Amino acid sequence: MIYLDNAATSFPKPPEVGAAIARFLAEDAANPGRGGHRMAVRAEHMIDDVRRKLARLVNAADPRRMILTLNCTDALNMAIKGVLSRDRGHVVTTVLEHNSVSRPLQALADAGRIALTRVGCDAEGFVDPDAVRRALRADTRLIVMTHASNVLGTIQDAAAVGAIAREHGALFCLDAAQSAGVVPIDVEAMQIDLVAFPGHKALLGPTGTGALYVGERCPPPATLAPGTDLPKKVSDTDFSDTDSRFRAWREGGTGGDSSSPTQPPVYPHYLEGGTPNTVGIAGLGAALDVVLARGPDAALAHERRLLDKILARLDGDERFTIYGPRDVGRRVGALSINVAGLDPNDAAAILDDGFEIAVRAGLHCAPYCHRALGTFPAGTLRISPGPFTTDQEADTLLDALAEIADAGV
Ligand SMILES: Cc1ncc(COP(=O)(O)O)c(C=O)c1O
Repeated sequence: MIYLDNAATSFPKPPEVGAAIARFLAEDAANPGRGGHRMAVRAEHMIDDVRRKLARLVNAADPRRMILTLNCTDALNMAIKGVLSRDRGHVVTTVLEHNSVSRPLQALADAGRIALTRVGCDAEGFVDPDAVRRALRADTRLIVMTHASNVLGTIQDAAAVGAIAREHGALFCLDAAQSAGVVPIDVEAMQIDLVAFPGHKALLGPTGTGALYVGERCPPPATLAPGTDLPKKVSDTDFSDTDSRFRAWREGGTGGDSSSPTQPPVYPHYLEGGTPNTVGIAGLGAALDVVLARGPDAALAHERRLLDKILARLDGDERFTIYGPRDVGRRVGALSINVAGLDPNDAAAILDDGFEIAVRAGLHCAPYCHRALGTFPAGTLRISPGPFTTDQEADTLLDALAEIADAGV
């Protein structure tokens, strides 16, 4: 099989990932923080080590603010509902968003809890930061934007939007699902308050992993000095004057302190109720070693070189429509096309059945993006190479596309 669906999840994973999972399962697979015994302590140390690596990846000073989640959707829900826990304010987002951003925001808007503005994009799939600025209102609480479109691969100017949010006093949440591991992210320099990302895409970890970085401007309900007793009832905390206080959307056992009737208001435990995916996190730790050693630049350069090769053959050929910019320097490794005379779902099925090539067709969970492109409701055929994709595989795809295009016209 030629796997060109890395934007959904990366495949294959580096061999180190499977080895780390097998070792963890055989030796340390206890429940972290749920016991004082050595195995539980080792499991907890492993998780904290992964936290530190993730913090390094986005230049976050405090690894305790790196919350481990089940995927990027989990992290985005945690961020959006954490900030908008009370009925209040206006939120700015964009038409490029994945449903993991659009749906939670739309549900809050439908319930009358927030006002929502969706900023458009240009014909190539870029959001103008000035359009975000113009959409702001006095009561704008939050800006949520994708770093790279999962349909077009277009990389957005996150630093410019971060500066606009900071200037306005709003929080900025970045969906880095398609960028973490290939595009540098610096939460300080880019003024990002919340960044959500999966462990299973360009970070090359297993499914069931992800993270949310929660910045200093999103404090938990009450911050206790070390050694202070927990409040008797955290739920009695007064939120009336604490606009930026962050609320847990998932509550439950956290291991450490079981006496408190509510979540201990300390990161990461405040947001990490329930047994974590320790097995997946062990694999993610090994994947991060590979990603951090190689560096995001090398991975992105490889994907861009392959996209360039694909574009060189398809661009200008009237049998194909290409979406997004021709300049691969403005993209991550995702390319949307259509084949004349063929529904993208049919094209993907032919590639799968006839050529053993895996690509993704349809709306890619981003319906507003396809409305903006004029490709709603059929969508597009998305080609997303990864770090292990070879030139030969790209050539095989191009030959297959030429064959099905001839049959389709
Ligand atoms: C831009 C974007 N955001 C969020 C998500 C959701 O990620 P996950 O599948 O890890 O929940 C995806 C998944 O493809 C995505 O592409």
